Amino acid sequence: MKLILLGAPGAGKGTQAERIAKKLNIPTISTGFIIRQAISAQTDLGKIAKDFIDKGQLVPDEVVIKILFERIKEDDCKNGFILDGFPRTIPQAEALVEADIRIDKVLSIELEDEVILDRLSGRRECSKCGKTFHVLFQKPQKEGICDVCGGELICRKDDNPETIKSRLSVYHKQTEPLIAFYKNMGILAPVESKKDVEATTKEVFKALGV
Ligand code: AP5
Repeated sequence: MKLILLGAPGAGKGTQAERIAKKLNIPTISTGFIIRQAISAQTDLGKIAKDFIDKGQLVPDEVVIKILFERIKEDDCKNGFILDGFPRTIPQAEALVEADIRIDKVLSIELEDEVILDRLSGRRECSKCGKTFHVLFQKPQKEGICDVCGGELICRKDDNPETIKSRLSVYHKQTEPLIAFYKNMGILAPVESKKDVEATTKEVFKALGV
């Protein structure tokens, strides 16, 4: 199964991707996480991407497409994968079509902009494995520590009100047109992001028929 998770920043793509990955035993590929790791490691990619991420803008298409295509060549993607945060522009979606990568379903996780600020200001991310928590809605067992790997939980640098505003505006302009793109291809499945994670997962699994 090859899936795409679409949705505004903070809609819950990463949270649901992790649950789908467990259920279907396929990996999640988060372009955002790959880029943040490259920034921490100060690689060439990280140096190019840092300014874009800090301003809440998209990293150039050619850079992200290259990262994605290299990642999906790896062995663990043989039986499918979940793309979290890719594609984010029409040229990125067209690159998948041109490479003959057939996507089975696109889940569009929908949430109003007003709720997004609360979700993102309370988010904590593991600095080691990238698992996401929330100070109110998805608490770790031990404050500040990742349940999975024991890594330190941190606030993402782009989760400040000003950058969130810019990310939302980029989403509406550059990413939202993908909803119509995939609707036309007949593979779009809209899912409402509910008030809690479990209820949303139920809707997601229903949309996937699993
Ligand atoms: P990326 O890391 O992909 O960030 P994003 O799209 O802005 O999405 P988020 O990770 O912020 O949110 P999410 O939808 O995964 O929500 P989450 O599950 O964490 O990208 C970051 C940057 O990288 C971009 O701005 C761009 O610069 C660059 N980039 C990445 N991909 C790119 C591409 N393809 N092209 C160009 N540039 C690219 O949930 C949020 C919070 O809410 C969590 O705390 C969670 O616990 C909580 N929560 C989740 N669901 C619920 C629920 N149902 N009820 C209550 N709380 C919930």
